[in-house]
Amino acid sequence: MRGNVIFDLDGTLTQSEEGIWKGVRYACRKMHLPDPSEDVLRSFIGPPPFDSFHRLFGLEGKDVEEAVRLYREYYRAGGKYENRVYPGIRRMLRTLRRAGYVLSVATGKPEKLTLDILEHFGLLDMFERVAGPGDDARNPGKKALILRAMVEDAGPVWMVGDRRFDMEGAREAQVHGLGVLWGYGSRAELEEAGAEFLAENPGQILEHLCPEIECSEGFFLSMEGLDGSGKGTQMKMLLERLDRCGYDVTVSREPGGCPISEKIRALILDPANLEMDAVTEAYLYAASRAQHVRQVILPALRSGRVMVSDRYLDSSVAYQGGGRQLGVDEVMEINRYAIDQVLPDLTVFLDLPRETALNRRYQASVPDRLEMEDMPFHARVDDAYRELIMRQPERFFCVDARGKAEEVAERVWAGVRERLKEWEYG
Ligand code: TYD
Repeated sequence: MRGNVIFDLDGTLTQSEEGIWKGVRYACRKMHLPDPSEDVLRSFIGPPPFDSFHRLFGLEGKDVEEAVRLYREYYRAGGKYENRVYPGIRRMLRTLRRAGYVLSVATGKPEKLTLDILEHFGLLDMFERVAGPGDDARNPGKKALILRAMVEDAGPVWMVGDRRFDMEGAREAQVHGLGVLWGYGSRAELEEAGAEFLAENPGQILEHLCPEIECSEGFFLSMEGLDGSGKGTQMKMLLERLDRCGYDVTVSREPGGCPISEKIRALILDPANLEMDAVTEAYLYAASRAQHVRQVILPALRSGRVMVSDRYLDSSVAYQGGGRQLGVDEVMEINRYAIDQVLPDLTVFLDLPRETALNRRYQASVPDRLEMEDMPFHARVDDAYRELIMRQPERFFCVDARGKAEEVAERVWAGVRERLKEWEYG
């Protein structure tokens, strides 16, 4: 083991003002206190809420207790999830673990809540220990929390946090203090409190603690489905989730995704190009893909990002191989050189009965050249997709795409989250 890195939660791993501020506002409203200004709200992040309600509103005794109770009522009911993991955090945690560091959390947030939040964002298993105040106990102070979070015999210990409490706690516990500048404390505050190093972004923590480690390969996810399967909506909802969880995501689409490929897209999908031969079409899709792979997908994967593409190779195999009847293996062959062995780690297939998909599609908007094709064409596309899924079941995640968009999004997320976890922890 190379060392123990202990993280504060709010303002360090997660940007949490949304839920906290709404909770404070809720308590103020219920207690007929004036609506707090942004400055007042900001001071709530970091110190225990008891102290803040007392200091900022002059509340005493039972009133403080009631304010904190109300605040927690809101927060526990859902405010706890109204936050997001900062960009770059996941990659930093993953890389630190790979470099041999043991990770912990020491936070002023009640421990149960902290566990809930970390689990919600799929981060809990990154940490060996999580230390926060017990349910009703007052905050025991940062030093005590650091000592509880600390893993014995792990080597040098770092406390990483965004406020002076974190740095002061580090000094008292005799561990290194590393301040982060993306949270709620200022550079001056952290320097004054004795931070030994200041990081402007998670990447700088990596440079400081393990400069020799290269970031690991990214994760490639493609989304597939028939026209009308709700792919656009599901892409949007998935991207929102990934963003809140702090994944570094590159989003793209096929055909298209970069200027040259977008030009090819316009050519292929133009309803005026009725005389385009199926073979020409297949090569144009492959050409647009070749550029997309080299200019967008590979660079994203090499820098450790989550690459999400709206359609990829499987669309060609299904539409040109199946729909246009060029053959599954023939279209794979045409694409072999184009994809340079880059296959998705996971392909989400939105599974909707073909009739339902097409009905939806025709009601939505004016169809492009491929969407103008008849039912037998789309039936062949569907059959080819199913053949691909049978051939490579481990790569596909088939999602029942019937029902409300939110329900489908939950199902998509359950599978994606699982696979991302394997990638992050593997
Ligand atoms: P698009 O407007 O992006 O539709 P969707 O929202 O359904 O993805 O148009 C892409 C069309 O191109 C779609 O009908 C599928 C088809 N297509 C192929 O035929 N082959 C391919 O390789 C790709 C990527 C798409």
